[in-house]
Amino acid sequence: MTIYVFGSINLDKVYRVSHLVQPGETLSSNGLHTVLGGKGANQSVALARAGARVAHVGRIGRDDSAWLQTLVDAGVNVERVEAVDTVSGHAIIQVDDKGENAIVLHGGANRGFDRAALEVLLDALQPGDWLLMQNECDGLAEAVSIAQHRKVRVAFNPAPMDAGVRVLPLRTMDLLVVNEIEAAMLLELDAGTPTADLLEALRSTLPGVMRVLTLGASGACLFEADSNVMHECSAPVVDVVDTTGAGDTFVGYLLAALVADDSPELALRRAVMAGALAVTCAGATPSIPMASAVEAAMNTGAIA
Ligand code: RIB
Repeated sequence: MTIYVFGSINLDKVYRVSHLVQPGETLSSNGLHTVLGGKGANQSVALARAGARVAHVGRIGRDDSAWLQTLVDAGVNVERVEAVDTVSGHAIIQVDDKGENAIVLHGGANRGFDRAALEVLLDALQPGDWLLMQNECDGLAEAVSIAQHRKVRVAFNPAPMDAGVRVLPLRTMDLLVVNEIEAAMLLELDAGTPTADLLEALRSTLPGVMRVLTLGASGACLFEADSNVMHECSAPVVDVVDTTGAGDTFVGYLLAALVADDSPELALRRAVMAGALAVTCAGATPSIPMASAVEAAMNTGAIA
């Protein structure tokens, strides 16, 4: 059983700043480093570090192919990543002294997928495999259709959210992970809708799908498919260094645990702990913890 991640590969240019730059302001950064990121690549690394068998499906600019070594080193199969003559997807990321971030994305090589290309890239999918997607690549409807035709289960993290997500066949998917902003947009509720109202709305939406609402420092809630049983997990208090990639870490650890037959409740606890560990380190892929660190933190309740 393989988890195929059809998703973005970005080069993250991370600028440390005293505060997030304001309109019209020019601000000097206190540091710059470049790391591999992209919601797709981050989730592939998280899955692999959690112990899952994972293959990444996507594209990178030919000149940046060496960055794929980060995926390889984590244990991700990159045979279905194409090197193309387009600028790589990249992100300009500000991280402030409180660890909060602001991100400008350029899709680059992550855009331009059509059905014909995806039929080739996804030709190895077998019944029982999973397909995991985010919303930084196009061709999502085609990818879902190809996967479901091959009896492959679909997990979706519609980040960053846009109006196009609503026309995807969400009802037919198996796992959906959203944060509060994404949930409000998906459910057509006001931004700032109280968490309790989001949960109530999510409970009655897409009942055949396992739905997860992430709550940042407050943890996460999971509704089981069909039964609608809800599990809640609060997050440990940690020193926040950088929140970039924490949501991706959560998604990867959650799916890896579910695929390994952990109960939804245990899978949720693992994912929350992994996400909490991720915010204690800088960068996207560099901050994704190893399974041993997540296990140790769950056993002791302590974050080193
Ligand atoms: O979720 C974090 C990711 O969002 C970053 O790695 C950046 O590339 C953007 O895609």
